[in-house]
Amino acid sequence: MTYQIRTLAAAGALIALAAPTFAETEVKLGYALAADSHYGVAAKKFEEVVLAETGDQFSFTHFPSSGLGGEREVIEGLQLGTIEATIVSSGTLANFVPETGVFDIPFLFNGFDHARAVLDGEIGQGILAQFDNVGLHGLAWGEQGFRHITNNRNAIHTPADVAGLKIRTMENPVHLAAFNAMGAAPTPMAWPEVISSLQQGVIDGQENPLSVIVSVKLNEVQKYLTLSGHVYSPAMLLVSKPFWEGLDDAQKAAFEKAATAAAAEMRAYVDNVETTGVATLKERGMEVNELSGEEKAAFQGSIQSAYDGYYKTYGQELVDSIVNFK
Ligand code: PAF
Repeated sequence: MTYQIRTLAAAGALIALAAPTFAETEVKLGYALAADSHYGVAAKKFEEVVLAETGDQFSFTHFPSSGLGGEREVIEGLQLGTIEATIVSSGTLANFVPETGVFDIPFLFNGFDHARAVLDGEIGQGILAQFDNVGLHGLAWGEQGFRHITNNRNAIHTPADVAGLKIRTMENPVHLAAFNAMGAAPTPMAWPEVISSLQQGVIDGQENPLSVIVSVKLNEVQKYLTLSGHVYSPAMLLVSKPFWEGLDDAQKAAFEKAATAAAAEMRAYVDNVETTGVATLKERGMEVNELSGEEKAAFQGSIQSAYDGYYKTYGQELVDSIVNFK
């Protein structure tokens, strides 16, 4: 090799060493449940689609099982820009966008098709858009299912059976009002404290959909499951607004596509656990009863005073337009 060629080769090596490498942007994705839950499968799909659409521009780090803290803390992390993304229940969302609480009203939806149509329609999408005003960006509504009551004290058939029951609720004023009206003794509590509180007898029970009861194996700490279906439990794929604003249009489109696919994955998981979950929990030893239409009506009647408050907060027109949505 001539001196000139050697010099050029050395210079080329230096240039190659000095060439900027395009660093992947890390997406920290936190959620309260395990990797094999409805949140876990949605998170996996979300990552898959973003990576397929954007190549190596992003790397994902998953924090399942409340690895980044309770849902409220994680959402605050998104606002600060220290966490990029989360999948959360509606538990604390009304603390950030109060209108979200309307979906937490018990006996609002008559089934999955009704709830999904409202969330995917104008009302749901309008509320999703409001997260942009509070340092967040709502990408899509996901879902957990209809919530049911589990407890260690007694089987539940009538409102009298929940009298004084120490039941954990989410940190959600709408749920709290309903259980107070029923005559229970509700305690709002962040999810990471729930299992130990059940084990120690600090609370008698809790309420969550089959997706949660099965994936968390609540049968290990709860004896009775009452299929009350008292309230629909939506979930949301949220990203940090500072993170969102740093994305270009193509990247935003990729995240939107990924969120739609992730929400579909979550709903498919819920559909499946809705058909298999009760048998699984019976096999694991839970005592299960389902409220009849008449029994459900008695529970609905027992929370009339809470409804007066809901109408005041959300407006009867909005509540009625959801109930009557076709
Ligand atoms: O009950 C709750 O707080 C939520 O449903 C849970 C289990 C954290 C999932 O988001």
